[in-house]
Amino acid sequence: MRSAGRIVADVIKMLEKLVRPEMTTLALDEAADKFIRDNDAEPAFKGYRGYPANICVSVNEEVVHGIPGARRLKDGDIVSIDIGVHCKNYYADAAVTLPVGKISKEAQRLIEVTRRALENAIDKIYPGAKLSEISGTVQQTVEKEGFSVVRDFVGHGIGQVMHEDPQIPNYLMDTDDYTEVVLKPGMVLAIEPMVNLGTYAVETLSNGWTVVTKDRRLSAHFEHTIAVMENGNQVLTIP
Ligand code: MF3
Ligand code: CO
Repeated sequence: MRSAGRIVADVIKMLEKLVRPEMTTLALDEAADKFIRDNDAEPAFKGYRGYPANICVSVNEEVVHGIPGARRLKDGDIVSIDIGVHCKNYYADAAVTLPVGKISKEAQRLIEVTRRALENAIDKIYPGAKLSEISGTVQQTVEKEGFSVVRDFVGHGIGQVMHEDPQIPNYLMDTDDYTEVVLKPGMVLAIEPMVNLGTYAVETLSNGWTVVTKDRRLSAHFEHTIAVMENGNQVLTIP
């Protein structure tokens, strides 16, 4: 899983340097596809439940599952890039939200808070910790800043299958089976807060994939694949 995770991290690093105003979102997809295949791995999203592209590229009010295409990025946009890689029979999955050119103070703060929500959640990953502590930490970090946490999409276990149990919401739920999940060494989690400037409500566009905020205000997304270790955790999607 480290091999898959390292490729995901390297693709993101490469795309970070590529992102600029006027480029199409398809160009990001093509660059990612080439990089992943050159590293003897496969883009995990391609064909997943019929998904038509290699990566997800979600701009501004798009929350997740934006389909790369002819759309051109422009100065002031924020762009979320979500990448899954399949390598040596295992998966890794990560996402970042990047500024395009010069962005507003508000957009910058949304990105920073979402990144911090993920970092705070990672600090809660160790043997014996409860899943609800992770969810609660994300929610608290985000809501303290006046932003909202998307309910309709969640993080997940990951391994030889991209989406494994347990589901990992970014907010506290009050069901028993959920609060009873306790982390053990060897578990690997994909934690992925999706944070909105306004309402947490989202809807799916008529292409059947692209999820947007109901109020069309900005949304940010960060994700890492993280292994529970005897002595804490290890983030697998870093170089
Ligand atoms: N990025 C999503 C996740 O983190 C999965 C993308 S689904 C796909 O779980 F269909 F777009 F591939
Ligand atoms: Co994921």
